[in-house]
Amino acid sequence: MLTILHHAAQLVGIAPSGECTLLPDGSLCIRDGIIEWVGPAAEMPAVAENERDVTWIDAKGKVVLPGFIDSHTHLLFAGSRIDEFEQRLEGMSYAEIAARGGGILRTVERVRRASKEELKALARPRLRRMLQFGVTTIEVKSGYGLTPTDEFKCLEAIADLDTEGPWELVPTFLGAHAVPPEYRANRDGYIHSLCEEMLPEVARQGLAEFCDVFCETGVFSVVESRRILRQARDLGLRLKLHADELSPLGGAELAAEVGAVSADHLLCISEKGIDALAASGTVATLLPGTAFCLGVAYAPARQLIERGVSVALASDCNPGTCMTENLPLIGSMACTQMGMKPAEVVTALTRNAAAALARADRIGSLAPGMQGDVIVCNVSDYREIFYHFGINHVECVVKRGRVVHAA
Ligand code: NIG
Ligand code: FE
Repeated sequence: MLTILHHAAQLVGIAPSGECTLLPDGSLCIRDGIIEWVGPAAEMPAVAENERDVTWIDAKGKVVLPGFIDSHTHLLFAGSRIDEFEQRLEGMSYAEIAARGGGILRTVERVRRASKEELKALARPRLRRMLQFGVTTIEVKSGYGLTPTDEFKCLEAIADLDTEGPWELVPTFLGAHAVPPEYRANRDGYIHSLCEEMLPEVARQGLAEFCDVFCETGVFSVVESRRILRQARDLGLRLKLHADELSPLGGAELAAEVGAVSADHLLCISEKGIDALAASGTVATLLPGTAFCLGVAYAPARQLIERGVSVALASDCNPGTCMTENLPLIGSMACTQMGMKPAEVVTALTRNAAAALARADRIGSLAPGMQGDVIVCNVSDYREIFYHFGINHVECVVKRGRVVHAA
């Protein structure tokens, strides 16, 4: 099977240095799901006459990019939290709402009552919308079950949805998203269950690739988070961390210390935290949609980039703090609210996002040998994707060499 995208006005590649490169009048060939050739249209090797199953995609006047990667989502959930959205508009904070029994635990109640099939049915339209916005790989966290049965139900639902495709999903175990009500008087009991009951089973069954923890004042402390992350690491899982989201607790430093692949949120990261990430090579995953939705200050993207930290951008799609599937819009927020340049945003949504999922050797750039995950946007200059915001410029989505969406 051969898929050829040809004559793109701009073919956006990502150099090994992470820099975004632009090839005018570019073409690209994908054979059996893997990119075989990328270069100027005039130099494209001739297609053999006896070649079977060839798909030609005319990209004249358009921009071709690697499929976007959403490396941080909580999109598997049931129920809505629209009333909390309104409570926040009336001045109540996310932490206050959570302290009154709202927040994550309300979604937990709904997810516990839902079957695996119901959760999958609710997630599918969200995944489809993401695909339509050019997102070809999506990380999905558990974390709204908080019992072994309900956490495994969620991870199994994610595995089923991945098999269904055409999207590619990366499962993350976030049993440490909150302490469930039945353990309120026995936090240690819950952490014990996470470490000795859930994590070993997640690892044994290969239910998740990553383990994440919500390290936050009033949720899991640095000491508790360290214990959970070390156990996950010892069991062979890769690590992520919700770090310094609402308070500067030292999450970034902890992520660096335990060798996490990414530290996420970082709205309140300290100077020491920035240094720690720069030294460890941990990717900083920024989620400006959450700051936008909560009405709080954005993460210091410019400082992170200038100090040499790799910055990825993701949606954080979840019912509490960021109800969107529109990743390109997150890119616009990164430009206007955090001062990121369009080229930096492209890298943050592709190569650096792949690095945040430990997959940069396979996805996130357009080069021979990489997976054939490619999108075509109906714009002639890639900056237009972020400049002309709030609408969908994605016209064609190719996953592993197959057209999986055409507008
Ligand atoms: O990333 N911070 C923790 N988790 C989510 C919010 C989840 C929720 O409120 O349901 C976040 O913002
Ligand atoms: Fe999150």
